[in-house]
Amino acid sequence: MKEINIPCVVHVYDDRDQLTADVKDLMESAVSARDSAYAPYSDFKVGAALLLDNGEVITGSNQENASYPSGLCAERTVVYYAGAKYPDAKFLKMCITAASSKSATFDPIPPCGACRQAIVEYEIKQESPIEIYFMGASGKVMKSHSLANLLPLVFDKSVL
Ligand code: THU
Repeated sequence: MKEINIPCVVHVYDDRDQLTADVKDLMESAVSARDSAYAPYSDFKVGAALLLDNGEVITGSNQENASYPSGLCAERTVVYYAGAKYPDAKFLKMCITAASSKSATFDPIPPCGACRQAIVEYEIKQESPIEIYFMGASGKVMKSHSLANLLPLVFDKSVL
């Protein structure tokens, strides 16, 4: 038996003003998109903004449903729309923000496991990393240089 240590490296910014101008703009787009969330069941609103290599910014939010599993997270709303509308574009950077109306969320909220799996598919397809930035309602922002960094031991097409 041997132990393998798989590192996950993130950078932490004290607030979004410390981000580069382009990423700060992208985060502001995610904050705006958060308002469009349809989250009557969880009261947890998530906004995401994705910058493509063709200059387009795709934004989206979580969309819930009375049949709970039929709802969709903000991140998957965005990547599936981007993949459908711009199948040849590369995904460069994604900003995510989440705010609960029940309790303050000022710590960075990372994307859920299902969204990590969905996003990494595009990273593998395009053979280049997607930068991920995530925040709570405001406050600290965490940056991962790639999705793979957030999803060690990935399940991908190589095993099919
Ligand atoms: N949610 C997202 O939009 N993204 C995530 O990564 C985690 C959770 C949404 C799903 C649901 O509408 C609400 O947040 C509470 O789970």
